[in-house]
Amino acid sequence: MAMIKFLTDEDFAIDIGAAKRMLAEIKTDPMSGWLNVWETVESDKIQSYAKSVQENSDFLVCIGIGGSYLGHRAIIEALGNKSKTKVLYAGNSLSDFELNNIISTIKNHDFSLNVISKSGTTFEPAIAFRILKKLMLEKYGPEETARRIFVTTDSSSGVLRKEAERNGYTSLEIPDSVGGRYSVLSNVGLLPLAVAGLNIKELLEGARVESENIDASEDLSVNKNSAAALRYAVIRTILAQNTFDVEVLATFEPRLRYFTEWWKQLFGESEGKNEQGIFPAATVYSTDLHSLGQYLQEGRRNIFETFICFDKNSGGLSVPEFSDDFDGLKYLEGRSLSEISKKAETATIEAHRSGAIPVFEVVAPDLSEKSLGALIYFFELACAISAKLQGVNPFDQPGVERYKENMSYLLKKS
Ligand code: PA5
Repeated sequence: MAMIKFLTDEDFAIDIGAAKRMLAEIKTDPMSGWLNVWETVESDKIQSYAKSVQENSDFLVCIGIGGSYLGHRAIIEALGNKSKTKVLYAGNSLSDFELNNIISTIKNHDFSLNVISKSGTTFEPAIAFRILKKLMLEKYGPEETARRIFVTTDSSSGVLRKEAERNGYTSLEIPDSVGGRYSVLSNVGLLPLAVAGLNIKELLEGARVESENIDASEDLSVNKNSAAALRYAVIRTILAQNTFDVEVLATFEPRLRYFTEWWKQLFGESEGKNEQGIFPAATVYSTDLHSLGQYLQEGRRNIFETFICFDKNSGGLSVPEFSDDFDGLKYLEGRSLSEISKKAETATIEAHRSGAIPVFEVVAPDLSEKSLGALIYFFELACAISAKLQGVNPFDQPGVERYKENMSYLLKKS
């Protein structure tokens, strides 16, 4: 999977040797559990918990933020919620409008909660959990509430772990060696995904197969399919050193909007420190061709673009026939929307390339669990290597604390 065509590759020398050294360091890092996460997940437990939620709930409300939220939402938005139990999301903002919407949706139905937080102390999910737990206690009483709350948190420390033990909530562990934004394929993402009726085994298999690409070949020339993540990491780092400090993740598939949100967090929190980093942005085409397209084509030349493309992606719609040519589009009759979209994708890549935007293409065979597992693994690996090539730690996020300290000071003061 994940073949990269870097369209102006002759212009760039590639320091793959450095990337390989970074990869070796990542493999021995205590936070590298995501590299082989499929070996630690509790699939059977997850499937049985998911079955019980599907049997007794119309809704599962997942409470979490950042890495405890974006990844599983990205996959569910991309593939659809296939079970009769719908997954909803809370605790990812401080908006009472949003939380009130969730409350009005669930209050006259059966629901369960999955509170997901590695630290257990993150403000937004902690507040939402208080509010929704109160609602649940009023509706079901303490015993039934205990059966309907699923806690995904650190294996031993934190208030959520204690809370789960004290009240007998069902719990899943987040491995110590897997940080938030690298955790979607761990227990963090798998319970909501299984409740949504998605195939978590295929997802993990996609990641596992993609992992075989890392050392697959010594041939590291740019347009080969082996070790694609290393080449991507190297070239984007070289671009950053050459004034290209903004990367736009582009897709012609609106269902990937949340995937781009997950990707932004992954790269933003991993690279953006010590005054380093490539600013991660995203576009969803063709919508954004009519908003940001002008800037991309002719604005400041500091942007490079990474397209996620699919070989096969069809919903079956085609342009219908009419007896007259009232809109001048008769030549399109019978042609599928997916073919037209693919042509728009090729046309956009060519236009941006001619406008001097370096363009990567990350190509997946289709939009499925297996492909998304591979894409997630590909970007996680490329991100960790890129961060290390830029001299920063891919696995911490010290800057996130600053607003929390200010907020806590202001709240305590008042
Ligand atoms: O990548 C990270 O570690 C962060 O984005 C966290 O996922 C986010 O801050 C939420 O933290 P927690 O899971 O501890 O509530």
